[in-house]
Amino acid sequence: MTESTLLSATDLKVTFTGRRGSGSARAVDGVNLTLGKGEIVALVGESGCGKTTLARTLLGLEKPTAGQVTFDGAPLSYDSRSLKAYRNRVQLVLQDPSGSLNPRHTVYEAVAEGLRVHGYAGDEQAKVAEALSRAGLRPPERFFQRYPHELSGGQRQRVVIAGALVLDPELIVADEPVASLDASVRGEILALLLSLRQDLGLSALVVTHDLGLAWNIADRVAVMYLGRVVETGTVEEVLTAPQHPYTQALLSVLPEAPGEPVVLTGEPPDPTRIPGGCRFHARCQVLAAGEAERAGVADACRTKDLPVLSAEHRTQAACHWAERRVSPQAPGAAPAS
Ligand SMILES: Nc1ncnc2c1ncn2[C@@H]1O[C@H](COP(=O)(O)OP(=O)(O)OP(=O)(O)O)[C@@H](O)[C@H]1O
Ligand code: SF4
Ligand SMILES: [Mg+2]
Repeated sequence: MTESTLLSATDLKVTFTGRRGSGSARAVDGVNLTLGKGEIVALVGESGCGKTTLARTLLGLEKPTAGQVTFDGAPLSYDSRSLKAYRNRVQLVLQDPSGSLNPRHTVYEAVAEGLRVHGYAGDEQAKVAEALSRAGLRPPERFFQRYPHELSGGQRQRVVIAGALVLDPELIVADEPVASLDASVRGEILALLLSLRQDLGLSALVVTHDLGLAWNIADRVAVMYLGRVVETGTVEEVLTAPQHPYTQALLSVLPEAPGEPVVLTGEPPDPTRIPGGCRFHARCQVLAAGEAERAGVADACRTKDLPVLSAEHRTQAACHWAERRVSPQAPGAAPAS
């Protein structure tokens, strides 16, 4: 952790105890992550890999089964008073603006809600106007008495963002912030998030399926697979020279990607049944193609778990084969964690 670290997760685990007949789900299964002040980190990975669970845990909405969340140098406490104070400083922006806005509340009420919950004693109207304006809804007074159904999808998302900004947070966690929007509106909302970082020094964790979005907005990327971060680094490094076969597969299906898309075989990941060895091994195209065998790591792929990646700001991949390529003289694959 450095002085400029705002948020960090240390060996974070979240296990959901199984309903009758099903095992417990290790939705987050050992994650180290840091977010610097003013930094935007994209958390990417396919559906069900644990992105939302991790985001909710970082926000204090979910209590970790193990590990720790630290914000501004202090470990998170889970008593209701500490959590309320914490939620003043970190704000969640959800994927579906229609779902996060009450259709019977005006824009003014929606944005003022957070101020009222936190007992804000200043000039409420001025604060709501400022937040709407920062979110690009200008002049703000024009929007005060509007209802969500009278707005476009992009405007609704801006109202949700204004509702987060009104409390002057230091960190925004945006879970699929533009997934439900048209491409043109998407660009506008992304530009807004970037300008908020520029103007207010806001940090953001942006959760997304979309690697293109990560490219446009983030400084760093963390790629998640089955509860773990399997690759992390700067956007340029991870997206132009991915080390982990899973990241390579995700990138290969982008429309602009060269070559053939990698079709992942095997069962979709299930956090109630995390395979032994490398958790990606049953679907790994590198193992299937015999490349891991040629590198002498195929046994390790099938039998040796990989260490949890550290939270350092360097490029790392949790993969026996990638590790062998980086240091070909290494005597064996990475030790089990
Ligand atoms: N409250 C819960 N109880 C039991 N299992 C849960 C619970 N919440 C999430 N899960 C399981 O944990 C895993 C991770 O879910 P999560 O919602 O974090 O994934 P995600 O990466 O956000 O997926 P998506 O991209 O579809 O939003 C899934 O298998 C999910 O079914
Ligand atoms: S460790 Fe082996 S199975 Fe896992 S991603 Fe790397 S090459 Fe594939
Ligand atoms: Mg999710």
